[in-house]
Amino acid sequence: MLEVRDLRFSVGDGVPRYWHGEGRAVTIFFDGLSIFFPEGERFFISSVRAHKDAAGPELKREIMRFSAQEGIHGREHDSYNAHLEREGYPAARLERKVTRLLRFAKRALPRRSQLGVTCALEHFTGMMALLLLGDDRNLAGAHPIMRDLWRWHAAEESEHKSVPFDVFRAAGGTEVERIGTMLLATAFFWAKVAEHQVVMMRADGCLLSASEWWKLLRFLFVTPGGMRTIARSWVRYFWPGFHPSDIDDGALLDAWKREYAASAEPMPVAC
Ligand SMILES: [Fe+2]
Ligand SMILES: [Fe+2]
Repeated sequence: MLEVRDLRFSVGDGVPRYWHGEGRAVTIFFDGLSIFFPEGERFFISSVRAHKDAAGPELKREIMRFSAQEGIHGREHDSYNAHLEREGYPAARLERKVTRLLRFAKRALPRRSQLGVTCALEHFTGMMALLLLGDDRNLAGAHPIMRDLWRWHAAEESEHKSVPFDVFRAAGGTEVERIGTMLLATAFFWAKVAEHQVVMMRADGCLLSASEWWKLLRFLFVTPGGMRTIARSWVRYFWPGFHPSDIDDGALLDAWKREYAASAEPMPVAC
């Protein structure tokens, strides 16, 4: 059963502008991902809820908890993104573009394909658990509040990764639809990731910094090289009969839950 943890993270006061140990471009990479979440989470919730009638009683209860987890993620990334705006990044403008893209997807795609897109994007967010819970180097030197925020979000993505997928299957989603929507989502997702990186590095004044680009590329592809983990996990999605539970990150999630339970006070610094 999914646990809904109503946590608040005080992104802002005391968090340095370049909060990741790898510096500017890597911090901006994470910040650029945050731009997706508020509107993305709302898209996920609505596409899953649109098919709740296909779900059995237990899956219906999981849909409610999934929606609650995603709603809280959206709220926390809203305040994260407001902080980015105050720091001088065009976060609100980039968020509006994400909103327009997802509105277009809602108009252009059949409802079940929208759910297929959600499954594909949830596969990407599920990979956050492999990266952020599985290899400390991905958040090396990060400010504690940001480390806690990203690891909490990654853990809950791992926790609920099967819910949209099970709803998709219950709604009669086919293998062709699943694979087609993954290809579509991959193309748009990485194009937007690249756009956010360029726009935010330009706003930051480091767009033409060769050393910042080198640090980012080294971080992504060499050490710790999270893109290699992502590529392997992405390929798995295309295996016939794939299910998110085929990727075993249970031990990582359990370790995070023990850390969470052991913290004397809730991990994040409450607002
Ligand atoms: Fe989320
Ligand atoms: Fe999610």
